Amino acid sequence: MARGNYLDVQAIIMGKLSKYFSLFKFTITNPKNGISMLDNARQTEKDSKQDIQKHSANSLNLEKCLELYFPDNDFSKEALIQNTKYLEHHFKNYFKKLESKKFPSKEKPYPVDYSIRNDSGLFLYGLCKIMKPDVVVETGVAYGQSSSYILQAMKENDNGILYSVDNIFRPWESLEMIGNAIPQNLRKRWKLVVGSSVAKLEEILRSKKTIDVFLHDSLHTYKNMLFEYNTAWSFIKKSGFLISDDVPENNAFLDFYSMVNGSPILMTDNQDKEIVLGIIRKK
Ligand SMILES: C[S@@+](CC[C@H](N)C(=O)[O-])C[C@H]1O[C@@H](n2cnc3c(N)ncnc32)[C@H](O)[C@@H]1O
Repeated sequence: MARGNYLDVQAIIMGKLSKYFSLFKFTITNPKNGISMLDNARQTEKDSKQDIQKHSANSLNLEKCLELYFPDNDFSKEALIQNTKYLEHHFKNYFKKLESKKFPSKEKPYPVDYSIRNDSGLFLYGLCKIMKPDVVVETGVAYGQSSSYILQAMKENDNGILYSVDNIFRPWESLEMIGNAIPQNLRKRWKLVVGSSVAKLEEILRSKKTIDVFLHDSLHTYKNMLFEYNTAWSFIKKSGFLISDDVPENNAFLDFYSMVNGSPILMTDNQDKEIVLGIIRKK
């Protein structure tokens, strides 16, 4: 092996060892977190053996989704893109600066492809512009892309509060980095609730009594997705929305919409017709 290659392999091994060592140290000092990390890994392993069922819900792209729910709205995709140009540039620059940083590290605690897809951001912005929600609750913040699109609409509406739930689950994560990319001028309507969704979601919902929109983008295990959907559903107002990222990962979204009184839609992107969001409007 050439010396350069040998040094590369050595650096990778050292990087992996230091990651496992910091995880081990973190688990010793935060045993509860360590146990839940193991439980999540077990759940993910179990989910990977699930036989993924075929959806009965229709698939629609972003514009068709907004048209279906709000036939009188006049937002074309182009208009949504224009209205959120500033956010698009902001996130491009933010992620560009992270390119040279090592993952995982204090400066880059989440992978950059963790964030919601472009069309999902546009949908959240469009939905909040049209609905003018009083309360939106989301789980899973990371750098804060979904939060920013919701908050941008709330700022323009001059109405609404976004409650976002996330926690420090790994030794390289920190309070400072949760929602770190959310622009300062959008933070007035943002309330970060630190903790896991199991610990915090019900408490927030009970304190608000009803909510307009719930967005799941936290831990995508079957058990956690169903837990969050079930917990949020009874607090969502009539004609309000339950929205979920990462629906294709398992059968949680399908099993949930088969049980409740709502109209489910799978939002697909225009490029490869991949499902980017699961959406249920409460009847
Ligand atoms: C896919 S990322 C969220 C991306 C974000 N919505 C965006 O658009 O930028 C998942 C996030 O969920 C958080 N998370 C994982 N498990 C969670 C749990 N049980 N409760 C709350 N948040 C959780 C992680 O810390 C991570 O920040």
